[in-house]
Amino acid sequence: MNIVLLGYMGCGKSSIAKALADQLKMNSIDLDDYIEDQENKTITQIFADHGEIYFRKREHQYLKKLLETHTNHIISLGGGTPCFAGNMELLKGNNQNKSVYLRTSLEELVDRLFIEKEKRPLIAHIATKEDLKDFIRKHLFERSFYYNQAAHIVSTDAKTVDQIAEEIESTLF
Ligand code: S3P
Repeated sequence: MNIVLLGYMGCGKSSIAKALADQLKMNSIDLDDYIEDQENKTITQIFADHGEIYFRKREHQYLKKLLETHTNHIISLGGGTPCFAGNMELLKGNNQNKSVYLRTSLEELVDRLFIEKEKRPLIAHIATKEDLKDFIRKHLFERSFYYNQAAHIVSTDAKTVDQIAEEIESTLF
């Protein structure tokens, strides 16, 4: 069984995956890190060199490969992973994958992402907090269709990473 964490950029997928892995004595793996290792480039470099479409194709291939080669892992996806290339169908098609959408409010996402947007090619160019908020509002609206197909939904607002990990455990087991 794999536990697959998904949600918008900045919702805490990677840190929650690590906390949950400690708690459940499992290993965690982050899809973005896996892609960077396999391609030997950062996500930012992949976007800059080849563009988003190339990234989405690779992301799909590496998600498949990761799911085929890993069991008993906590897997954190990239924010866009569920929304492209039939990835959500892939996840739903195998009942060995337990998917959890980490739902975070627009306000919390804007606050977190404004200070760390440079690392994210899709939002790095947005200059003001107001513009970032508009962008995320629309993007989240489009993406929620996919995120809401997760088997479980856990809200993250005003909770610590450890509290969220506890809540995921009690939701799943
Ligand atoms: C993306 C999110 C990023 C990374 C890439 C694209 C997205 O992952 O996969 O920059 O489309 O939302 P994080 O959610 O881990 O930042």
